Amino acid sequence: MQPVKIVDLFAGPGGLDVAAEKLGIPAVGVEWDSGACTTRRAANLETVEGDVRHYGPSNFPEADVLAGGPPCQTFTVAGNGAGRKALDDVLGFVKRMVAREDRELIAKDLAQLEDERTGLVLEPLRWALEAIDNDDRPYRAIVLEQVPAVLPVWEAFAEALTGEGYSADCGILRTEEFGVPQTRKRAVLIARIGKDAPSLPTPTHRPYRKGVARDAGNPTRLPWTTMSDVLDRRSPFVVISNYGTGGDPKARGRRRSDEPSATVTGKISRNRVVTPDGTELERFTHSEAGRLQTFPADYPWSGRDVAQQIGNAVPPRLALHVLSAAFGWDQPSEAVLKSLRTWND
Ligand SMILES: C[S@@+](CC[C@H](N)C(=O)[O-])C[C@H]1O[C@@H](n2cnc3c(N)ncnc32)[C@H](O)[C@@H]1O
Repeated sequence: MQPVKIVDLFAGPGGLDVAAEKLGIPAVGVEWDSGACTTRRAANLETVEGDVRHYGPSNFPEADVLAGGPPCQTFTVAGNGAGRKALDDVLGFVKRMVAREDRELIAKDLAQLEDERTGLVLEPLRWALEAIDNDDRPYRAIVLEQVPAVLPVWEAFAEALTGEGYSADCGILRTEEFGVPQTRKRAVLIARIGKDAPSLPTPTHRPYRKGVARDAGNPTRLPWTTMSDVLDRRSPFVVISNYGTGGDPKARGRRRSDEPSATVTGKISRNRVVTPDGTELERFTHSEAGRLQTFPADYPWSGRDVAQQIGNAVPPRLALHVLSAAFGWDQPSEAVLKSLRTWND
């Protein structure tokens, strides 16, 4: 399919929209964080600064693709009682929405939830159903991305969308398997209207496993990309995480420059960078942290809390693969992948 325009909910600094731009598809993002919006405007990405809950498909009549990465705080505690409760609440609301229960009643009950952020994950489904019911113009493709704990929600959405005439696929993708110099797992859903079922993109690179050599493993895949491959630092270095690992808060996670980075979070500026013999080096700049997420080196990071903006984003290189798969296109070409290196050229 050839999309006309993407409306990207919870669009952040534009991880998905950078990829859309590189694929030649216009995108408009809805985002309420002023810092992320400052970056988006500096990057010339079309932006509506506001609350996703106050808008709907009729505000974006030209968009025929829906994308979104809703915030996930309530689910990242999955495994504990609150995460499980949030999940059960959301799954219950999915059923009510699909059954076309009164929207105002649903909205009232959503407002009663202990943590109002829980309901945000339902927004893409609300938009998808409203496009069908109010405008009789279903989105031609839908692309959603979140932390792995949200996969059960995407599975429920996939079932719901199938009942609405879509074909869908969802699962967990590992960013280093798509050439991102970082290990990060994401739950992704892609759906397309009609019977022609989309499939999640096929990995191009090998998975990273601590202690396993870069050139070992499946010969049909490329070795994973390292931090040194994308940063301009000439000498080897080690990144020492601000977090503990393996359940031990004192055992700081470490990654060498010839490995992919650990998951880039909003706290990346707290990570120490040292030489192999322990001498302190400059911590990562915003451009470097952005490059570990595969943003262009000259991406115009602006506004407040840039580290959080970077940590929140979907890596544009992963988004290139996911969008291409959603539209039924071949994998992004080498030229498109390379085009991610710069923004203003
Ligand atoms: C996980 S991030 C998404 C990042 C984005 N997909 C990207 O690739 O850059 C979630 C974003 O949702 C925004 N957000 C949270 N609640 C919102 C709301 N009600 N309306 C609009 N944006 C919201 C946050 O400010 C944050 O930037």
